[in-house]
Amino acid sequence: MRFTVYTLFPGLVTPYLQEALLARAIREGLVEVVVRDLRRFAGNRTGRVDDAPYGGGAGMVMRVDVAAAAVDEAAADDPPPDEVVLLTPAGERLTQGLVEELATRRHVCLLSARYEGFDARVESLVTREVSIGDFVLMGGELPALCVMEAVTRLIPGALGDEESHRQDSFASGLLDYPEYTRPAGFRGLAVPDVLLSGHHGMVAKWRRREALRRTLLRRPDLLEAAPLSDEDRSELERLRLELAAGAANEPD
Ligand code: ADE
Repeated sequence: MRFTVYTLFPGLVTPYLQEALLARAIREGLVEVVVRDLRRFAGNRTGRVDDAPYGGGAGMVMRVDVAAAAVDEAAADDPPPDEVVLLTPAGERLTQGLVEELATRRHVCLLSARYEGFDARVESLVTREVSIGDFVLMGGELPALCVMEAVTRLIPGALGDEESHRQDSFASGLLDYPEYTRPAGFRGLAVPDVLLSGHHGMVAKWRRREALRRTLLRRPDLLEAAPLSDEDRSELERLRLELAAGAANEPD
């Protein structure tokens, strides 16, 4: 799997790729990341890639010919990108589902904008526009890193423990159950007894119920799309009743 990132600030992107699991995945050849400077396509000696907006107003707009030169360059790579993503707050929301889809690609090209973003005609050059959330950052570099990290951790071998991404938040359509480690008591806060019981069946049942409880309390919208068994549905019904009676809160 390969990523090509186009940015005006390669120095913002590169250091993040040099640490921890991303660095290891790159070192082991599970993923290749090429970071390229958009300013090479300025076509002028000043290196300016932006211009004033037609129609007036504040801020500068990045030129569409700069984006086109980057996309054309990437198209000559082997393999050429099978996905060209513009990072923008106006894009479709990045979800685990979209991450899984991107993980099936061979080469994802990521275009990071600055200033007021690219000239709107950039839309004709990309396969999709992606936002990492309803807030506005100063540029698309962090969103590009989010995409790369979320996708890379799905590549077999990129995580030490193969189990850990199958069971984590969103992979099941639910939020993750709460985890605990030593010490068993901390500032009067105990670890739930069942986790100390050594009873695997009861632990699994408790974890499923707590994942359902967390999702119900924090992100009930996720329950609509989550694959739920009949047992999950009856558990949710019990939790809703407890909640209505004021007793289904998370452990504090
Ligand atoms: N650029 C600025 N803000 C962004 C966001 N929330 N998502 C993607 N790209 C962005």
